[in-house]
Amino acid sequence: MKALIASGGRGTRLRPITHTRNKHLIPIANKPILHYAIEAVVEGGIREIAIVVNADSTEVQQAIGNGDRWGVSITYIPQEVPGGLAQVVALSEQFMGKEKFIFFLGDNLVVGGVRRFIEEFERSDCNAFLTLSRVKDPERFGVPELKGGRIIRIEEKPKNPKSTYAVAGIYLYDHHIFEAVKAIQPSARGELEISDAHQYLIDAGKRIGYAEITGWWKDTGKPTDLLEANRLILDNATPSIEGDVDARSTIAGKVVIQRGARIINSVVRGPAIIGEGCVIEDAFIGPFTSIGNETTIRGSEVEYSIILRECRILNVRIRLEGSILGNDVEVVEGTGKPHVHRFMIGDQSRVEVV
Ligand code: DAU
Repeated sequence: MKALIASGGRGTRLRPITHTRNKHLIPIANKPILHYAIEAVVEGGIREIAIVVNADSTEVQQAIGNGDRWGVSITYIPQEVPGGLAQVVALSEQFMGKEKFIFFLGDNLVVGGVRRFIEEFERSDCNAFLTLSRVKDPERFGVPELKGGRIIRIEEKPKNPKSTYAVAGIYLYDHHIFEAVKAIQPSARGELEISDAHQYLIDAGKRIGYAEITGWWKDTGKPTDLLEANRLILDNATPSIEGDVDARSTIAGKVVIQRGARIINSVVRGPAIIGEGCVIEDAFIGPFTSIGNETTIRGSEVEYSIILRECRILNVRIRLEGSILGNDVEVVEGTGKPHVHRFMIGDQSRVEVV
C-alpha cells in the first residue's frame, strides 16, 4: 500500500494568507497542515508517499523534505495547473503501478488516524473505499446517496444533497481508479472531479465500500475552518511547559509553552500553544489560540485565534478574537489624536471593526 497526498491548488478562499504561502503549510497548533496528513498515513503503516505539488513552486518540497524525518520516502509529482482531484490521481499512475493506495487531501484533518480504513480496505474485495462524515452543509462537498448499505450515487457540490454525509478527502483505491480518472470529462467548473470518477466506478459495476468517520474530520478550505481545526487539534494536545513562566502569571488548562518563550505577568487559559521565543507580557491568551514562534504580545488580549510567527500585538485595548494573522504582522495601539483606526493592509485582506 502506498499513499498519494494532494498539496496543489491555489487556496483562493484563504487569501491573503495564501498570497505568500501554500495553504498546506499554514500552521495549525504551530504545525503545518500537511504534517497531519503525512503523519496519519505513516501511522497507518505506509512507507512510500507521493505528494502532488504546484509545478511553479518548490515551497512544499523545501518545507517537507524527502521524508527522512518520518522514516519514509516522499516523491514529488508536479501538477502544471490545478485541473481537479481526478487529475491529481491520474498523475500518480506510474508511481502507484498496480499497488493499492490511499489518497489523502492535504487540507483535510482527521482525529483518530486512518489505520482502520486501510485495514478494512485491505481485508475487503472493494475496488474503492470512501470515508463519510456527517456535516451540516453537504452542498460544499461530494455527497453520497445511500441505499441498502450501498453507495448508489455520488454528486459533487449538489444543490439538493441526497444525504447529510460529505465524502471526506480520504479515499482508498485499487488500480481501477486510473481507468475512471482517464474516462471522465471536466465538470462545469472546468475540473476533473473525483466524484465523477467515483460515479464512473459505480456505473461500471465496481465495488465501492465505505466507512463513517465517527470522530471529527475537517476540510480546511475557509478561514473559519482553520480556526475550528485549530480548536480541535489544541483540544487534543498534550500540555507541556518548556518556556519560562514568572510567578505573577497564571497558566490554566491544556497549555503548551515551547522552548525559549517567556510569560510575564499574564494569564494563559488553554487549550493554547505559545511558540518558541515568544514574549507574552501583561497579556491574556484565551482558549483555542496558537501563537507562532518569536511573536510578542504585550498589554493585549487574544482568544480563539491563529497568530503566525514574528508578529507584534502591542497595547491593543480591544480583545482580538476569531483572528488569523500572517507572519510579521503588527497590530498596535496608536498614541496620537484624533482617536482613529489606521490600516496598512495587503490585497484581499479582511478587517472587522466592532
Ligand atoms: O474535503 C473533501 C472534499 O474535497 C470532497 O467532499 C469533494 O468531493 C472534493 O471534490 C474536494 O472538494 P474541495 O472543493 O474541498 O476541493 P479543493 O479544490 O479544496 O481541493 C482539495 C485539496 O486538493 C486541496 O488540498 C488542494 C488540492 N488540489 C486541488 C485541486 C483542484 C490539488 O492538489 N490539485 C488540484 O487540481
